[in-house]
Amino acid sequence: MENLDFIDYLNTNKQDIMIEEKKELIDGLKYSSQKKLNPKYFYDNKGSILFEEITKSEDYYPTKKEMEILDKKDKKIKKELPPKSTIIEFGSGSNKKIKKLLSIVDSPVEYISIDISKDFLFENSKELARDFPELKITAISADFNQELNIPKIQNIKKPKIGFFPGSTIGNFSKINAKKTLLKFKKILKSENFLVIGVDLKKDKRILEKAYNDKEGITAKFNKNIFKNLNNKFGTNFNENNFEHNAFFNSKKSRIEMHLVTMINHSIKLFDKKIDFKVGETIHTESSYKYTYKSFEQLIESAGYKVQNFFSDEKSFFGIFILKVKK
Ligand code: AVJ
Repeated sequence: MENLDFIDYLNTNKQDIMIEEKKELIDGLKYSSQKKLNPKYFYDNKGSILFEEITKSEDYYPTKKEMEILDKKDKKIKKELPPKSTIIEFGSGSNKKIKKLLSIVDSPVEYISIDISKDFLFENSKELARDFPELKITAISADFNQELNIPKIQNIKKPKIGFFPGSTIGNFSKINAKKTLLKFKKILKSENFLVIGVDLKKDKRILEKAYNDKEGITAKFNKNIFKNLNNKFGTNFNENNFEHNAFFNSKKSRIEMHLVTMINHSIKLFDKKIDFKVGETIHTESSYKYTYKSFEQLIESAGYKVQNFFSDEKSFFGIFILKVKK
């Protein structure tokens, strides 16, 4: 397709990244009192498809609420954003939201999407290139947990709009959320915009239902992390030895997802053996829930200010329009 470029950045520095990832895995599984995994390992092709299914399940409200805000507040959002912008999406997910944003913004000139799930990203980009033949599209497969020293995105001219929907920011601890916002700022630069979706704090029962959907898709999604690790790192996890558990930790204002050991056993991780005792858990994901105030505090510490804020009727979800400070 003429209007589509594809850049694979997953393979540059592959050696260095592998070393880092191995170290992180060993630290997380062998040398931490609470075993943990990086949630980025959910998103192999199967995981991306399962996540799509989650977003459509009755109990998981965030995606639907975010879409509803984009639909209902479209005219108000349009007023906040500059025309003829380049839109940069960090972690591309499904096409539904970006299509909406592209139709909200006045005459966007270019769309750049960065995602770790390569095949998924490429399929989505092809569809988008077909639907927006006038738009220049660049799909970059990269891990934005890593440094984003990608020449292509360092040289974009103003105006720029970063797009980080889906409350992906909620996956990061406060410290890492700030680091991520600083990384985006390096790309966006002063006076440019970031449209960011944030799941808001609410009744614990509603939160917990969203991560324990009755169809059991979230449980499948959680366990799928093992298949990806087995493929990528040659581990021998057996998902049948674990069960899904998700709960709201109110002290830390976050949903925690865990995989609970059901039977004493061990697995091999490179040259190491990892033991699992019944009841012991692997913490696979945190999903932080913010208030307007707590999120404002976070973004101000990273050098942004709130330009405007949009929410649904029940204040389940928020879309912040941020501006990088001068
Ligand atoms: C994609 C990180 C926003 O935390 O709600 C959904 C991932 N995990 N169900 C979230 C997820 C379990 C999701 N984010």
